[in-house]
Amino acid sequence: MKPSKLWSKDFEPDRMIEQFTVGNDRELDLRLARYDVQGSLAHIKMLESIGLLTADELDVLTKELERIAEVIESGGFEIAPGIEDVHSQVEFMLTERLGDIGKKIHSGRSRNDQVLVDLKLFMRDELKTIAAAVGRLFDSLQTLSDRYRDVLMPGYTHLQVAMPSSFGLWFGAYAESLVDDMQILSAAYRIADQNPLGSAAGYGSSFPLNREMTTRELGFSTMHYNVVAAQMSRGKTERAASMAINTIASTLGHLAMDVCMFMCQNFGFVSFPDEFTTGSSIMPHKKNPDVFEIMRGKCNRLQSVSNEIALLTANLPLGYNRDLQLLKDIIFPATTELIECLDMCTFMLGHIRVNEEILSDPRYDYLFTVEDVNRLTLSGVPFREAYRTVGMQVQHGEYTPTRIVEHVHEGSIGNLCNDRIREKFSDVMKVFR
Ligand code: ARG
Repeated sequence: MKPSKLWSKDFEPDRMIEQFTVGNDRELDLRLARYDVQGSLAHIKMLESIGLLTADELDVLTKELERIAEVIESGGFEIAPGIEDVHSQVEFMLTERLGDIGKKIHSGRSRNDQVLVDLKLFMRDELKTIAAAVGRLFDSLQTLSDRYRDVLMPGYTHLQVAMPSSFGLWFGAYAESLVDDMQILSAAYRIADQNPLGSAAGYGSSFPLNREMTTRELGFSTMHYNVVAAQMSRGKTERAASMAINTIASTLGHLAMDVCMFMCQNFGFVSFPDEFTTGSSIMPHKKNPDVFEIMRGKCNRLQSVSNEIALLTANLPLGYNRDLQLLKDIIFPATTELIECLDMCTFMLGHIRVNEEILSDPRYDYLFTVEDVNRLTLSGVPFREAYRTVGMQVQHGEYTPTRIVEHVHEGSIGNLCNDRIREKFSDVMKVFR
């Protein structure tokens, strides 16, 4: 009988044990297949350079791995029943076609550093994709901020009418807030952008591996030098990514909440064409903001991912432990879901309608009290006296707003500084090139 495990000896594991330990890992591993081949290509090139493969063997193996890469890109790659994971599948395919040459590829590495390198390459790509999706949302928010820079809206504190704000400020606020999130995303990217290959099972190898070479081949900026630290980066890489996901999701969830609230009839600040709203099975008039509610819910849930990772990896003994396999099932769906939410938000904002006449409603008259206090102060009345004058007018129902809003300082209604915010954004985006 053909052994189905890379580690098969003279027994086959119990089927229940197999199912429990492998779980849905084979399915998740499909997303790693292309990176697994990429890692193997770099590894065999290095093996040849240190004399563990001949030039001919390298050539044969490279061609076969490239053929497997094509199968993966065309969507035809499968992990056969009974094969444990993507690493085993690729190795089995090689040995099936090439015999003994295929069996040489695993010298100086373990599935532990193989999966590590796959995950680093995968996370790097996912974080880049997230950065690009954040970039599209940023652009859309900035465009809206510029377009509606002169349209005022109420600003709230304690959810009570407070001071004039503007759609320019509101949209622009989320754009600049995303810049901070991108700082965390870029840190996560830098953590992912380090080569763990060569750490093998987690303690290095007695082969004279050339790790500089594989670092270059795989396009990593640097390597995890200490092989134990390299193994420790399993979990840590995902944790850093989850923290970035967390902060982006928090910003996005906040925006989704604003939109839900501002779509409510009691506010009526924004609306969407009918086809972007959802109806009710009983109330014929309803045009609900379900898109933003689902977005809010998903973003709230996404913020638990960093907790899940923290708990999964808490107090693990040093070195590889199989628990780490479960990280994939947490982080893979999370990156996908965040990207979906970001893209959906950008899509929806492309259709948002802004109520340009909100402030003509007298319920917002008191928004202007501070403007009027400040105008008196600028004309020479001490601030506390001006405050009291306007305060007494309000108290006695005699206040009539001038409705003049003149804000000039950096970042205020009249001076949004969107160009500077864009510079900050471009700056942080440089990390992802
Ligand atoms: N599926 C495994 C994981 O994700 C691959 C590494 C297996 N290593 C081992 N020592 N069992 O962790």
